[in-house]
Amino acid sequence: MPTLTHHGIPIEEYLKQQVAQQLSPARQLHVEGVARLSSHLCSQHGLAAWRGRWAGYLHDLMREWPADRLLKAAREFGIVTSEVEEAAPVLLHGPVAAAWAQRELGLEDEELLAAVAYHTTGRPQMSVLEAVLLVADAAEPSREYPGVARIRRWVDKDLWQACRLATDSSLRYCLRAQLPIHPLSVASRNWLLMHAGPSFPRARSTQGG
Ligand SMILES: [Fe+2]
Ligand SMILES: [Fe+2]
Repeated sequence: MPTLTHHGIPIEEYLKQQVAQQLSPARQLHVEGVARLSSHLCSQHGLAAWRGRWAGYLHDLMREWPADRLLKAAREFGIVTSEVEEAAPVLLHGPVAAAWAQRELGLEDEELLAAVAYHTTGRPQMSVLEAVLLVADAAEPSREYPGVARIRRWVDKDLWQACRLATDSSLRYCLRAQLPIHPLSVASRNWLLMHAGPSFPRARSTQGG
């Protein structure tokens, strides 16, 4: 674990303080659940557990910010926003959290920053750490929504299958709630369908021919 501090406080401690200050009790519970599950999945997939914990603590830190604060922070961090993000600024909570962690905390772990930035949408060619955080976000024990039990059944068996099911589920949610769909969510879902894991032999074999 890097010996990074902020105002003399070890980063993990500082992140926990920020979670307690910035998030409602229900979301704090969610974040604790994500940190625990992503730490467990990191160990299972040969990654350092602290990366899963830090990604978990960071991922929703700006989730309760109002739209104008997210848009302002995105501008200040030089994040180029799309039409969809401007229509639904909540989509910026991951990218803003990642930019903040890099600029304000000096976090340099590119994979960890990408996991935080893309945890809402996923993206094609996502790393194992990105899939770990996306799945932990969807499946931690306090989440309750239609289909979560099916995702949970795959979490320890096949991370990529769980990741595809989680992406399908968030797309379904956007359709039902008539929310804009981020183009990366669609690209990510198609990539997962065609490339991910041993569960998709038919999809893989059509790639070659
Ligand atoms: Fe989030
Ligand atoms: Fe979350």
